[in-house]
Amino acid sequence: MLKIVPTGAALVADITGVDLKRDMDEVSFARIRKAFDEYGVLRFRGQDLSMEELLFFANRFGPLDPTEPGAYGGKHDLDTYPELMIVSNVKEDGELIGALGDGELMWHCDMSNRPAPPWGTFLYAVEVPETGGATGFASMYAALAELSDDLRIRLEGRWAVSDGTYDSAGNPNTLPISSAHPMIARHPYSNRDLLYLGRRRNGYIEGMPTDESDALLDELWDYVVDDKFVWTQEWQAGDLVLWDNLATIHRRDSFDPESRRIMWRLQLTGQTIPPA
Ligand SMILES: [Fe+2]
Repeated sequence: MLKIVPTGAALVADITGVDLKRDMDEVSFARIRKAFDEYGVLRFRGQDLSMEELLFFANRFGPLDPTEPGAYGGKHDLDTYPELMIVSNVKEDGELIGALGDGELMWHCDMSNRPAPPWGTFLYAVEVPETGGATGFASMYAALAELSDDLRIRLEGRWAVSDGTYDSAGNPNTLPISSAHPMIARHPYSNRDLLYLGRRRNGYIEGMPTDESDALLDELWDYVVDDKFVWTQEWQAGDLVLWDNLATIHRRDSFDPESRRIMWRLQLTGQTIPPA
């Protein structure tokens, strides 16, 4: 029996009583789809999925982006599963099987440097270390709802640039494009208003002196990662987490380089983000 169990944090619901290996009826899927708009992050624990099964479930939400060959280093099974990216620190025959290593990843939205950032990201834990590698999420719906009037006035009509020079691990991007997005934005799928920050490094607010832009962005990035907006996922093998990549930001803790962590990642194709 499918249940949607809110965690009590500003975002996130656990979806229980569902085996994603099995085909799901339309009514059950519609409840999950609605919960995605409502909570921004959904967690399904205790799953045992093949790549095909994960892809089948993800495709019910909408089209998936293909992984860019060579964009992240590591080995991808691009011929069979062009949308599936492996996130891992594991080496086989001296070659990394996936991307993003074992280090800390700073707060960001995925690929906010693109004109149309992905709508959502699926991350499925195949193998995880006993400690470390947790993923933190912060709700940008809640961050906007609780924004002070003073800050809100300063952001009205403003657009901020997400710089694409580096990825979230601090490595050079192979597609170093940058894009501007409205800071007070309307989610193109849920139609809810949110604070959109993208990524901090090299970012700036258009039409604002650099000093002022830096100070305002620093203030905002400090504000949005307050405990009241944040929830942290401690991974277990078999966890599938789906996050709304427009309505949330996320980060990752580092973990022991000697331990093994293997995750499968998919992303939902997005569209340009309109102002609120
Ligand atoms: Fe990310």
